[in-house]
Amino acid sequence: MNQPSPQQSGVSTSFGRCLMKPDFFDRFYDIFLASTPTVKEKFKNTDFSKQKQLLRQGLSASLLYAQGSGSAKFLVDNLRKTHAKDRLDIHPSMYPFWVDSLIKTVAESDPKFSPELEKEWRQTIAQVVDYISAGYQA
Ligand code: HEM
Repeated sequence: MNQPSPQQSGVSTSFGRCLMKPDFFDRFYDIFLASTPTVKEKFKNTDFSKQKQLLRQGLSASLLYAQGSGSAKFLVDNLRKTHAKDRLDIHPSMYPFWVDSLIKTVAESDPKFSPELEKEWRQTIAQVVDYISAGYQA
């Protein structure tokens, strides 16, 4: 039931290649913070050495969630709560910046990146983004 489809395992192996680049999360935050002033403002008090570690875990959980993992759902449920209006207040309009920043970072980090892989990444990550951003007002 929780077997990854070939599409999702394409994303998992791509993520594995990205993780071999030691600066993957540095690059992600460089790109994401430069994407729009609102994002930069939200991270003005952030300790990035911690944040990069947390994103590594969050992204791994997100990919597992998209493959149907029940234990990952617990972590993604937590992200849905922390990013909601009453906590971090991450408006749904911010998520396309996050997704595009991630795709740009993957594109420069994965030597095997292709338009087909981009489509797979976007479809996979959309499931998590839709779920987290739907919790904004919940
Ligand atoms: C699916 C997309 C996203 C994922 C997987 C994700 C992941 C995470 C994770 C793992 C944390 C660590 C703390 C926690 O568990 O809440 C975090 C914190 C945070 N995220 Fe996200 N995030 C996403 C989207 C966004 C977007 C679009 C923004 C927009 C600005 C954002 C802004 C923040 C901020 C401000 C923090 C707190 C930083 C601090 O502690 O100073 N996130 N995120």
